[in-house]
Amino acid sequence: MVLLQRCLLRKIALHGQRSCVSQLGKQSANPAWATAKLRHSPRSNCGLGHCYSTTSGIPGVRERTLIAVKPDGVQRRLVGQIMQRFEQRGFKLVGLKMLKASDELLSQHYHDLNKKPFYPNLLRYMTSGPVVAMVWEGHNVVRTSRMMVGDTNPAEAHPGTVRGDFSIHISRNVVHASDSVEGAQREIQLWFNRKELMDWDCCDHSNTYQV
Ligand code: TYD
Repeated sequence: MVLLQRCLLRKIALHGQRSCVSQLGKQSANPAWATAKLRHSPRSNCGLGHCYSTTSGIPGVRERTLIAVKPDGVQRRLVGQIMQRFEQRGFKLVGLKMLKASDELLSQHYHDLNKKPFYPNLLRYMTSGPVVAMVWEGHNVVRTSRMMVGDTNPAEAHPGTVRGDFSIHISRNVVHASDSVEGAQREIQLWFNRKELMDWDCCDHSNTYQV
């Protein structure tokens, strides 16, 4: 019986290492590792540091999304208020930068919209000034942040949402939020290098998640 238990424990430990190694493989091939859900023990160590996250053992907690305050939001000094909503909700900021988005970056970001009549205006607007790009992490962050941001068309966006509170026209809707987990992975890779993303533990995580 004791022997069987030892065998099982050894198998579990090996599986943990394999999960970690397979994530490492993914990581080098694809920087979207940032969104990977690590399957091994939250306290195990793969040698890269990120495995020490105390929340990494909870499914979905490491989901990430791209939020960007568009040029109109930056000009109107709304960055602080928008960030505060995500912090207040309990999400964790893991990437942040201000940049002037290039045509090339935006053409990849909006690759599915380039045949739309509004596309030239969208590009002009998005390159008209600095953008503040952020990566937020947490359980269900993609879906929740879409709800927090509100409908694409501010006229349809509910009060209490970012677009519903701060904008009135679709051509100036203040903020971008990834619309799917896959889309978020793609967009995070476009806007951020792996080194620009931070793995860190929030000291209050046990008040945000059951651990
Ligand atoms: P889209 O990806 O459809 O919406 P969302 O930003 O909510 O994911 O569109 C990208 C941006 O294009 C949108 O935020 C604002 C702009 N846009 C227009 O200017 N006019 C339009 O008719 C639409 C649909 C979008």
